[in-house]
Amino acid sequence: MRVGILGSGLMGGKLGTIFARAGHEMVFSYARSEQKLKRLAREAKGKARPGTPGEAAKEADALLLAVHWLRIDDVLNQTGDLSGKVIVTCSLPMNDDNTELVVAHTSSGAEELATMIPKARVVSAFNTVPSEVLFGIYEARRKATRPSLVYCGDESSSKGIAAALIRDVGFDAVDAGPLRIARYTEPFALLVAQLAYEGKGGAELAYRFERFGR
Ligand SMILES: NC(=O)c1ccc[n+]([C@@H]2O[C@H](COP(=O)([O-])OP(=O)(O)OC[C@H]3O[C@@H](n4cnc5c(N)ncnc54)[C@H](OP(=O)(O)O)[C@@H]3O)[C@@H](O)[C@H]2O)c1
Repeated sequence: MRVGILGSGLMGGKLGTIFARAGHEMVFSYARSEQKLKRLAREAKGKARPGTPGEAAKEADALLLAVHWLRIDDVLNQTGDLSGKVIVTCSLPMNDDNTELVVAHTSSGAEELATMIPKARVVSAFNTVPSEVLFGIYEARRKATRPSLVYCGDESSSKGIAAALIRDVGFDAVDAGPLRIARYTEPFALLVAQLAYEGKGGAELAYRFERFGR
């Protein structure tokens, strides 16, 4: 797949690197320094290059949106037309100092994003785990038991693309339903962050859902 990264920070940089190692063709975009994008592309060691958000979007099968909520407008203004594009967003609708969700309960960041780019196909994924755990999960991807990762969206083919990327990282992809379920997954992401950053065991934390009784 061709995957464009919009926001090459903790999440975008690491997921982009993993996607490249899993064999995808990557464009890293949107950081404050061109040098950083070049370094990420070089160190990803796959088919990866630095580019502008427009270049990342061009001919992409999927785009990972991984910027702070306050930067969404800015990055979207630089991508060009996103009609028909699969946008996998891990961005949480956080306030300036990352202490609270600014959209919740009656809507979600993912739904707000979908209204900003109505012709794109938005899937919410990767927002419920800390960046610190991603490389470890990729390393452990051949183990029998995989951690879960919830995702949601309104359209099956874009969800299929997101699920393939989720599995490539090493997760068990858990379809949580339509995009409005991001109203539940986004606050859940804050619970996971609380446990990761304030709990005793460290930030390399993931979760696993198990069914009993059948
Ligand atoms: N970090 C996590 O563990 C985690 C987990 C779940 C969800 N999330 C969500 O994922 C999203 C991304 O989080 P993150 O931790 O990856 O953020 P981050 O490390 O701050 O990355 C954001 C990216 O945006 C770039 N950027 C910021 N301002 C810019 C500007 N003016 N011009 C160009 N580029 C600019 C940053 O550039 P630089 O590279 O130069 O800094 C960076 O590459 C957020 O919405 C967050 O809530 C994060």
